[in-house]
Amino acid sequence: MPAEKKTNTNIYGEVDQLIKERLSKFNPEEVIDFRSDTVSKPTKEMIAAMYTYPVGDDGYGEDPTVNLLEQTVANLAGKEAAMFVTSGIMSNQLALRSHLQAPPHSVLCDSRSHVFNLECGGVAIHAGALMTPVQPKSGKSYITSEDIEDALVHKSIYSAPTKLISLENTLDGEIMPIEAIKDIHDFARAKGLPLHLDGARLWNASRETGISIKDYAKYFDSVSLCFSKGLGAPIGSVLTGSAEFIERARQWRKIFGGAWRQAGHLAGACLYALENHFPQLNKDHAAAKYLGQQLEEMGYKLIKRVDTNMVWVEDTAAPIKLAELAREVASYGFKISGSSRFVVHLGNRDHVERYTQVMREIIQRHKEGVMDAI
Ligand SMILES: Cc1ncc(COP(=O)(O)O)c(C=O)c1O
Repeated sequence: MPAEKKTNTNIYGEVDQLIKERLSKFNPEEVIDFRSDTVSKPTKEMIAAMYTYPVGDDGYGEDPTVNLLEQTVANLAGKEAAMFVTSGIMSNQLALRSHLQAPPHSVLCDSRSHVFNLECGGVAIHAGALMTPVQPKSGKSYITSEDIEDALVHKSIYSAPTKLISLENTLDGEIMPIEAIKDIHDFARAKGLPLHLDGARLWNASRETGISIKDYAKYFDSVSLCFSKGLGAPIGSVLTGSAEFIERARQWRKIFGGAWRQAGHLAGACLYALENHFPQLNKDHAAAKYLGQQLEEMGYKLIKRVDTNMVWVEDTAAPIKLAELAREVASYGFKISGSSRFVVHLGNRDHVERYTQVMREIIQRHKEGVMDAI
């Protein structure tokens, strides 16, 4: 049987063969990519800085740059300790594993969250835990303490009771209000439940609201922060929490096979990103808001608020479907997911205006019925 033709429907950016062919005509360095901020590449300045950081054996706690990064992030988050890891998934999974004890137990989270949808059900594998996905009610863009209270799994002979709550901020680029976080914190405390934050993009929330990382982190027992999204480092996340919690997580990291040796150059990229890229995130947000306005003007409907660096649209009434648009813009060296999401990051923020001009040209030609000539 012939292999089924892949369609370009993956919101996280898997592109089809035609797009690959069209983009292959460009130098990869010239391709402007709006699929995700995970595609952001280290700048020349970051790579040069990475060479300058000293290294040692982190297995012995002797990598001075890893130690500096961990101390810096722990201070920034107002926590006792921190641990550098390879990825956001490893950070979340280590956090959930380290908070939990033994089954039967479950983790309550937003139904749209990364830990629930995009981590291969890891918490079932690593901790034998069930997940309870909760949908926001009352038209809000985030789950509330009331939503959580309604979904809580109580202890019984039949149940896997809730033992941990995991939140995500930003979630799909939207910022969770600090008051809602505080409410959930108060509720979790009253119930004796630990609270984890997937703060892969907490940087963006913090830059946009002016609320410090510390002021967000104080409501959580553990916070995971990513450096290889909008901050542009090639690799790395940091998990923060109490000294006792991080000690436990270090042992789990060892079990996962994720302990480092001379990781200082990578940690150096994160320190560089913290100093040089974190303060610039507002530029991504401004560019994303501009992109959102332009897409709306062109007939695409915004389906979420553009709070930070993500723009979500749908194309029901649009002049060109997004899947088709992805193929057309590829001829100009632009890579988009072809479904609903555009993400602005330091690698493409200066290209948003050019991108929207190209879109307008394509739409114009489409209206004139000359698309086949492209
Ligand atoms: C909110 C969120 N958390 C965690 C991750 C996982 O990060 P990584 O790809 O570094 O494992 C991602 C990845 O995009 C994410 O968006």
